[in-house]
Amino acid sequence: MKNEFSFQHRHILGLEQFSPDDIHHILATARSFKDISSRAIKKVPTLRGRTIINLFFEPSTRTRLSFEIAAKRMSGDTFNISASTSSATKGESLIDTARNIQAMSPDIIIVRHSSSGAPHLLSRHVQAAIINAGDGTHEHPSQGLLDLMTVMEHKGRVEGLTVAIIGDIAHSRVAHSNIIGFAKLGASVRVAGPMTFLPPQLTSMGATVCRSVAEAVEGADVVMALRIQKERQNDPLIPSLREYARFYGINRDVLRGAADDVLIMHPGPVNRGVEMSPDVADGQGSVILDQVANGVAVRMALLYLVLGGEKSGGEGAS
Ligand code: NCD
Repeated sequence: MKNEFSFQHRHILGLEQFSPDDIHHILATARSFKDISSRAIKKVPTLRGRTIINLFFEPSTRTRLSFEIAAKRMSGDTFNISASTSSATKGESLIDTARNIQAMSPDIIIVRHSSSGAPHLLSRHVQAAIINAGDGTHEHPSQGLLDLMTVMEHKGRVEGLTVAIIGDIAHSRVAHSNIIGFAKLGASVRVAGPMTFLPPQLTSMGATVCRSVAEAVEGADVVMALRIQKERQNDPLIPSLREYARFYGINRDVLRGAADDVLIMHPGPVNRGVEMSPDVADGQGSVILDQVANGVAVRMALLYLVLGGEKSGGEGAS
């Protein structure tokens, strides 16, 4: 990519750290990489000779696979470590694990961890670039970016749109990265969910808290549903899934108040019939699989940019 903007971030820890220009630059870079995935030969030499480690302490399908596909399509060498097969199960600390991985000279370590702040801690102890693939309830920056890319692709802009995020906002790092990202690019972000799922700091993050799903969805250009993050809740925070689906599930009825061309989004995995009805997940306006496709392009862009882009000898999308 040839333009004057210079991306200055060594690590990708959260959308918090980025200016709107940074975000636009990442998305433009991702768009320039997107067509590689539809070529017959899906490979460019950009990351040749680079070592990329996926260090996942929590389950993942989309995020881990798409980081791996992104790295491989750019000729990087990728290695996967999951918590159940690592020495973390033998009592090794996160920093010790990371220092030992560092001793093998990787260029990038992609980390998913149940503790908020784990990637930030690692970034202070290793030389490799750290990419946060989801830290506890805090942030999931690559997901926020792929969501912004998907909306931009379908609506041509983010500024001025109304985005409704529904469900377990408190425990969702996806929600947090999206609130920050959409607000930074000038969208108006509304949230709704059971009281126990709405943390107090939402307004300071730039979101408007609505009293009902209907209020949040009224006139919305984008409706995003979230999975209930049970793994981050010690005690049940809602009376039952049936009631949740009735009051907070996204179905065709609820969507009647939204804009005619509303986009339906979900980061996956979807619990059909709970946060979203199957006809909505698969129906008109659903861009859930576009989100997944854009995940590869965004992750290619992040891998490229943390290694210095063209300055690193990378050859872009050509
Ligand atoms: C999300 C996550 O792990 O934070 N999934 C994802 O990365 N696509 C959301 C979830 O698990 O519900």
